[in-house]
Amino acid sequence: MKIMQEGALLSASFFIVAAALAQQPATLEIDAQKPVAHVSPILYGLMTEEINHSYDGGLYPDLIRNRAFMDDSYGPHGWVLIEQGNARASMELDKSTGPSTAIPRSLKVTIQTADAKNQAGVANTGYWGMAVRGNETYLCSFYAKSDGGMTGPMTARLVSDRTGAVLAEATIPAITGEWQQYKVALKAGAVPVVSAENHFELVARHAGNLYLSLVSVFSPTYHDRKNGLRPDLMEKMAAMHPKFLRLPGGNYLEGDHIPERFEWKKTIGPWVGRPTHISPWGYHSSDGMGLLEFLEWCEDLKIQPVLAVYAGYSMKQEHVEPGPELEPYVQDALDEIEYVAGDTNTKWGAERAKDGHSAPIPLTYVEIGNEDWFDRSNSYDGRYAQFYKAIKARYPQLQLIATTPVKSVKPDMIDDHYYRSATEFFNDTHHYDKTDRSGPKIFVGEWATREGAPTPNMGAALGDAAWMTGMERNSDLIVMASYAPLLTNVNPGALQWDTDLIGYDAVKSYGSPSYYAQVIFAEHLGNQVLGAQVADAGSRFFVSSTRDAAAGKIYLKIVNGSSLSQTIRIHFNGVTQVQNEARLTTLRGNTPEETNSIGDPGRILPVVSTIHNAGTSFEHTMPPYSIQALDIQAK
Ligand code: AHR
Repeated sequence: MKIMQEGALLSASFFIVAAALAQQPATLEIDAQKPVAHVSPILYGLMTEEINHSYDGGLYPDLIRNRAFMDDSYGPHGWVLIEQGNARASMELDKSTGPSTAIPRSLKVTIQTADAKNQAGVANTGYWGMAVRGNETYLCSFYAKSDGGMTGPMTARLVSDRTGAVLAEATIPAITGEWQQYKVALKAGAVPVVSAENHFELVARHAGNLYLSLVSVFSPTYHDRKNGLRPDLMEKMAAMHPKFLRLPGGNYLEGDHIPERFEWKKTIGPWVGRPTHISPWGYHSSDGMGLLEFLEWCEDLKIQPVLAVYAGYSMKQEHVEPGPELEPYVQDALDEIEYVAGDTNTKWGAERAKDGHSAPIPLTYVEIGNEDWFDRSNSYDGRYAQFYKAIKARYPQLQLIATTPVKSVKPDMIDDHYYRSATEFFNDTHHYDKTDRSGPKIFVGEWATREGAPTPNMGAALGDAAWMTGMERNSDLIVMASYAPLLTNVNPGALQWDTDLIGYDAVKSYGSPSYYAQVIFAEHLGNQVLGAQVADAGSRFFVSSTRDAAAGKIYLKIVNGSSLSQTIRIHFNGVTQVQNEARLTTLRGNTPEETNSIGDPGRILPVVSTIHNAGTSFEHTMPPYSIQALDIQAK
């Protein structure tokens, strides 16, 4: 009896505490009679640049690090010497010979002694290891020449670090005294455990000198595209239902110094013609991801490019004065547009066809520069106007984006950037509600809640989701928005910028809670914005209400950023019939700090369920720290 009383007391007090942990019921009135705006059909997209080893060591699946020996002036960074048994050899960076004027360097391997059992050569450890999967084929290619009696053969192989087991191997029968490219397929047999603990070896069994350059071991790619992209990362992007890709940056477009900008003409054609370049994020870029690869990335995801052209400003306060000095840069941008969208009877359209892509790529948006508010010379107004006039004269249909407001011409669109805390986004979801609709349209080309590292946590996802409700409500004005940065290799030393949407190592990848928030919002976009009035909700409750008119669906995206659950009485005006069953997608965390990681990728994932009490007026309770989407069938 006593025990029962205690039990009853306990459950009564639990009930009181639980009730105290819920907020007062809120009301949400949705006006479905008349949409207040159209939703931009291309609202959500992707922003990319080479940062955090997004391409080399990430999306670009060449396993070899420093393949052209251009990464370091002092030594062959990423490469180590192999002397098996009694073999004796040395290696050095050779700046006097290379396979082309663009790649004037090589790795000279001097083999004093070697034989079949005591081989000598070099190894590459990749970008924090190399993933080798069973029954996959890796395309190995390299440029080489030899002297001092070396005529081959050579062996290329993928080897397990732990066991020394050869996972894939091929022989190159002979090497000549002239620079030449060699290609072999490395076919892996069964690989018991897929790990990153593997490396690549290129070895010989005779004395002599070998000169090596542009050594590549290419993994299978998304849609089997030649020089294509890493499949798991492309699949993650595809699941975001993006509509565009802003390329190629970001700071990566500008470079620290003018000669370090993204010079697109040096990124097209065969690798051997691409000189590679130093990026502003502190490491060298192989430029395997050149302009055409970006465009093919768009094609593979069936999205449009938003082409950012270099506009005469680099980040260390270097700028090109508007006027005659800027003319070559303007011409370069015109050529770039022609390379993307020109017919094959144009000079640069023909060049694109020569590079393997004869069909022009549809282009609507061109961005002139990046974050030119940093240019303290105030030259952007003049620079923008010069690009604008030249591009519009030739391509009047293009929409030209300015990176900061200008006065001399009216840009079609302005690119606004926001890197903020969750609280800052919570407090600013009405940012665009009163913006003048007669001004330029808005592209929120970079935005993110910067909480969590290397990838954002649940608290960040809540900040993001709150901000997205504001962007959707204003998507008559905000035509496009893209989170940044998109990608990070999570290995120590790989990252330059915290809070990146998707994380990975050599073997696997995962989406952050913010990634899933994007997926949920993009999956429930709709095409009309419905008016929504919220009353009595806490300051951390946010809603976006849209409709897909053709499908007869109303999408409610609701965000509860508070530590308390939130009950809402939802009422629809202007609909007479609402199906009781509604699909509910929930993303939630126990704390704002809770997150996904490479070791725990599925801690926070969207969960789909069904509610059975939907109606023209119904009550719904949201858990603490949650983002939900309700698909409501209504007439
Ligand atoms: O997204 C990271 C950097 O932030 C971008 O390169 C730059 O445009 C911004 O300052």
